[in-house]
Amino acid sequence: MIDIHTHILPGVDDGLQDIGEALLMAEDAAAQGVSVMVATPHLRWGERQELSASQFRKAVADLNAMMQAKGVPIEILPGCEIPLTADLLERLQRDEWMSLGDSGRAVLVEPPWEEWPPFGKAVLQSLLDAGWSVVLAHPERYRFFQHRLGLLEELVQMGVHLQVTTASLIPGKASPAAARCAYELMERRLVSVVASDCHGVTHRRCDLGEAAALLRRTYGAYIARMLTDGVPRALLRGERVEPAQIWKNAPTDESRWKRFLRAVLRRETDDG
Ligand SMILES: [Fe+2]
Repeated sequence: MIDIHTHILPGVDDGLQDIGEALLMAEDAAAQGVSVMVATPHLRWGERQELSASQFRKAVADLNAMMQAKGVPIEILPGCEIPLTADLLERLQRDEWMSLGDSGRAVLVEPPWEEWPPFGKAVLQSLLDAGWSVVLAHPERYRFFQHRLGLLEELVQMGVHLQVTTASLIPGKASPAAARCAYELMERRLVSVVASDCHGVTHRRCDLGEAAALLRRTYGAYIARMLTDGVPRALLRGERVEPAQIWKNAPTDESRWKRFLRAVLRRETDDG
């Protein structure tokens, strides 16, 4: 599996603090079947200076060297959680901000938490028009998206990929509102990628294995594989994937058992 949203790079944001924690996180992920983690730190955090793309590349190369030296079977790729700003495309073109896996073709974009910016759709459309694949980070956790699923539907129709967080799918781990929104997005077949957004080794750890098992039981092996491996792999290779195609190609094995399980999960997440 490939986890395209992690805070495994230590000492740069609100994720891990030191290299020992990064090793523990990678070992934990490897034990769950993860082979690639994209380090996607926030660009700016607190008083820290914004890191340049070249600094990210160097830090990730050092981390990979340490993983190899310690025999941890995880490849770390560089990336970052790019803020949705009006000048996003220009910053990418100037190589100021890191694309997903340094692919030069796909980006992980984080909208501001307060409100959807008036220029949001236009900026994402300009990225798509310029040939970029766009992954929107954890929309289910935003209050303004929880009440505007129609906007997310429009974004997916434009070609934007939605990345849901593992914790939003695992009962009891997220707020009821985020969990309800995540399952609603799954039911509407709008989700392209599931990733952990892991920040720690105990709290907010990488739990992609647990989420993938749950996805297999509720949506089948094909969807579980696509959302945790197939789509992330294609995006990192620079391939264009149409969000609508992911679910269209899924085998239709809608058993009564799966419908029952999904209904139970939605009820459980409703209750928190
Ligand atoms: Fe994140």
